[in-house]
Amino acid sequence: MSKLNTSSCVVGVQWGDEGKGKIVDILSQKADLVVRFQGGGNAGHTVVVDGEKHVLHLIPSGILHKSVCVIANGVVVDLIQLLDEMEEIRKRGIKLDGRIFLSDRAHVVMPYHKFLDKCSETTAGNGKIGTTQRGIGPCYADKAARKGLRVADLYNEEFFKERVFAFTAEKNKILQALYGAEPLDPQRIVDEYRGYAQKLQPFVTDAVELVNGAIDKGRRVLFEGAQGSLLDIDFGTYPFVTSSNSDACGISSGTGVPPKKIGKILGVAKAYCTRVGEGPFPTELTDDLGQKLREIGGEYGATTGRPRRCGWFDGVTSRHSVQINGIDEVAITKLDVLSGLDEIKFAVAYQHNGSKTERMPTDTKVLAQCRPVYKTFKGWKEDLSKVKKYEDLPKAAKIYLNFLERYLKVKVTMVSVGKDREKTIHRK
Ligand code: GDP
Ligand code: IMO
Ligand code: MG
Repeated sequence: MSKLNTSSCVVGVQWGDEGKGKIVDILSQKADLVVRFQGGGNAGHTVVVDGEKHVLHLIPSGILHKSVCVIANGVVVDLIQLLDEMEEIRKRGIKLDGRIFLSDRAHVVMPYHKFLDKCSETTAGNGKIGTTQRGIGPCYADKAARKGLRVADLYNEEFFKERVFAFTAEKNKILQALYGAEPLDPQRIVDEYRGYAQKLQPFVTDAVELVNGAIDKGRRVLFEGAQGSLLDIDFGTYPFVTSSNSDACGISSGTGVPPKKIGKILGVAKAYCTRVGEGPFPTELTDDLGQKLREIGGEYGATTGRPRRCGWFDGVTSRHSVQINGIDEVAITKLDVLSGLDEIKFAVAYQHNGSKTERMPTDTKVLAQCRPVYKTFKGWKEDLSKVKKYEDLPKAAKIYLNFLERYLKVKVTMVSVGKDREKTIHRK
C-alpha cells in the first residue's frame, strides 16, 4: 500500500470522479485524520465495501474506517445536506461522536446561494457551466465579497440574524429583477438555521488547531481533495471549473496547515477520462465507443446522476496537473473498464492551427479547438477484476501503464481494477 507521510494528500488529476473516494477509503485505514479542504456538496465520492455502496458528498471518505474526519474551513457547507448525510451514516451503524468535526471557519451555503445557482444555470443558455446547482459558486463568491456567513456566526444569534436579513434583502432584489423569482423569507431562514446550528454544535471546532496539532504530534493526516485539478478555479479550464482550488494548492488556505507541513501528494486518474458539465474536452469520444465506456464504467454522476462525457486519457492535461500539484505518485483507477477493447489511445500532444504543442493552452477556446495527437496501444481481452499483483496484469496493460508513467514522469503505485476496496493492486 502507498505509504502515508505524517501528512499526505489525495487529489484528482482530471475533471473529477477519478475514484478519489475509493482511494481515500483504502488509505484511511492508516490515517488518524482525514480532512476535506475545499468544495462542498458538489462532490460525490463513492466507496464500495463488500458490495455495499456509500456515496459521500461532504463527509470525508475516511468515515468508513476509524479515522477522525474533518470538514475544514475551505469547504462550503450546506447544513441540511451535512445533517442528512450524518443521519445516513448513523443508520449504517457508525457512531459519529468524536469522529466528525466541522471547522468554525467554514462558510455556510445559504438557501439563496442554491436558488441563485439554479436560476443562473437555467437561464444562461449557451453560457451555462453545467454546475451541480448546489450553491457552490454563489457561496464562494460571497466569501470573497466578504458577504458570507461562517459556521461560527451561527452561534452569535444577533449578528447572524442581522446579516441574514441584510443579505437576503439584497439577494431577493437580484432574484426578482433578474429571474422574476419569489422572494425568500429571512425570518424563516433564521429560524431554520437556528435548529441546524443546535444539532451541529457538538461537532464544531477550531479545526486549524485540531489538524495542526495532530500533525505536530506525529499523527497521520490525509487531505482529501474533491473535484479534480482541471476544475481548479485558477489552473483549470476556466470558466468551466468549480469555484475553489481543487488541487493541492488549496490545502493550506483550506485548512490552515502551512505548505511546509504537507508531505506526499498522490494523484488519482482514471485509465481513460471523463467530464460532467460543459467545457472543452479534447479527447472526448462522442461516438459509440464513448457510449460503451460510459456503460461499462457506469459513468453517471454520483451527485446529479448526469451522464459523464467519456474519452481517452489525456497526457497533456494530466502533465499540467502533475506540475501544479507536485504529484509524487499516481493511482490509476478503472483499468478494468478498458478490457476487451482492440486498441487504446493516449493523447501525447495537441495540434492547433497547424502546430503541435505538449502544453495545455490557457485559452479555453483554443483548448476546445485542439485536436489530440494519439499514441495507440494494443488492448487486452482479460478480465482484470481478480488480478491482485501488478506482475499478473496482461502484458498489454503493463505496456500502457509503463508508457503513462514515463510520459507523466510519476510512478504508478496503485492500480484499481474494480469498485470494491479489495479490487486494488498495491505496487511495491
Ligand atoms: P470520486 O468523485 O473521485 O470519488 O469518484 P466517483 O465516486 O464519483 O466516481 C468513481 C466511480 O467509479 C464510482 O462509481 C466508483 O465506485 C467506481 N470505481 C472506482 N474505482 C473503480 C475501478 O477500478 N473499476 C471500476 N469498474 N469502478 C471503479
Ligand atoms: P467529485 O469530488 C465531477 C463540475 C460540475 C460543473 C463544474 C462546476 O465527485 O470529483 P459546481 O457545482 O462545482 O459549481 O460545478 O464542476 N463538478 C464536478 N465534476 N466531479 C465533481 O466532484 C464535481 N464537482 C463539480 O459538473 O461542470
Ligand atoms: Mg465524484
